[in-house]
Amino acid sequence: MAEHKYDIVVFGASSFVGEILCNYLSKNREEPTLRWAIAGRSSAKLEAVKAKLDKADLDIIIADAADEQALRALCAQTRVVTTTVGPYALYGETLLKICAETGTDYCDLTGENQWIRKMIERYDATAKASGARIVNCCGFDSIPSDLGVYYTQQQSKELFGEYCDTVSMRVKTAKGGLSGGTFASLLNLMKEASTNPALRKEMADPYSLCPDEESKARQINTGLAQFDKISGSWTAPFIMAAINTRVVQRSNFLLKEAYAKPFFYDEAMMLGKGFSGRLRAGAVGGGLAGFMLTASLKPGRWILSRVLPSPGEGPSPQEQENGFYDLYFYGKTASGKKLQCRVTGDKDPGYGSTAKMLGQASICLARDIDKAELAGGLLTPASCFGNILIERLKAYSGLTFSVIR
Ligand SMILES: NC(=O)c1ccc[n+]([C@@H]2O[C@H](COP(=O)([O-])OP(=O)(O)OC[C@H]3O[C@@H](n4cnc5c(N)ncnc54)[C@H](OP(=O)(O)O)[C@@H]3O)[C@@H](O)[C@H]2O)c1
Repeated sequence: MAEHKYDIVVFGASSFVGEILCNYLSKNREEPTLRWAIAGRSSAKLEAVKAKLDKADLDIIIADAADEQALRALCAQTRVVTTTVGPYALYGETLLKICAETGTDYCDLTGENQWIRKMIERYDATAKASGARIVNCCGFDSIPSDLGVYYTQQQSKELFGEYCDTVSMRVKTAKGGLSGGTFASLLNLMKEASTNPALRKEMADPYSLCPDEESKARQINTGLAQFDKISGSWTAPFIMAAINTRVVQRSNFLLKEAYAKPFFYDEAMMLGKGFSGRLRAGAVGGGLAGFMLTASLKPGRWILSRVLPSPGEGPSPQEQENGFYDLYFYGKTASGKKLQCRVTGDKDPGYGSTAKMLGQASICLARDIDKAELAGGLLTPASCFGNILIERLKAYSGLTFSVIR
């Protein structure tokens, strides 16, 4: 195979999260020979990113997300393209298509269900034929959930000799903010859904990313505010569950239903015990419902787009530094054996930690997983990386994975 000039090209290096990722890659010491470059549509913005990194030898590639010729030239030079150019439903398809066609490995940060489903339908067969490993959702959604379940299943097999048929993830704490790019993706999804009943139905389908799944079962739905026996806490829905649960089900599907058939997975936020827990759960559940209702209406989206951060904006360096998350995975096997695992991360989930996870996922594709070992296709973090990425995240990205009991 022809030698590529780069291991990784970061497309969208000028995005809020792209800049944090570039800063992380420029400080990486574990892969001193890593060859990487930055790409995007604006030469001036990329020069500014490069200047801040103080990396005079960093190459810049100019390409617009709609410029097929420029993106083909970009893909020809690299083993892996890592893209933060979003909303992906608006700007992501051309690059993903070219990667699938040319056998270029690919990671992104999308959490846009409806777009991933379309991409699976259109390009999974192409990527399988070319050998391109296309891995969506390599940020806070959905690496901690997907690898947390994968880890819980490995531990269950080791401890009990069997996998869990049910895993419930509970967010104990998650401290951080959201960026303009994330809100833009969410508002675009709500805009698409508001005029498309088929899309609304698809969004409600827990198997939306497993079109060929045979063993579909009714999954558990978290109410707006309810007492949860599993965690002994009042809970409210977790906003990222809409994507994470779909990704985890796709992992089970791609791993040939290794977890269970059917496999049950749900997520919720823990808000404490007693009356105060109940009040918090009501406030969080009600707030979330209110936000979704507002975002589903055109005037509501107009108001939100004026009060929420704009593209390019996001949590301050201080907020990123002070952020963290703590997730519990409650597993139960078909024979009733139980275990509890935990995944934690330093930095704020959506940016500081996401950039480190995306960076290690990209390095993993470029350096650890040979084309001969893993076939192409539209994959999930667990089905593509498994334990290799868990070890990298523990060593270099501030994550912990542990068994509590
Ligand atoms: N999965 C997760 O946990 C997670 C976490 C954070 C973010 N995200 C997602 O990641 C994406 C980026 O978020 P963000 O807040 O960093 O976004 P952002 O700051 O708004 O940046 C968007 C990027 O897209 C680029 N772009 C837009 N149109 C383009 C085009 N036609 N050609 C080339 N580049 C184009 C912009 O380039 P310019 O700089 O030249 O304008 C910018 O680099 C969003 O989709 C967000 O939802 C996911």
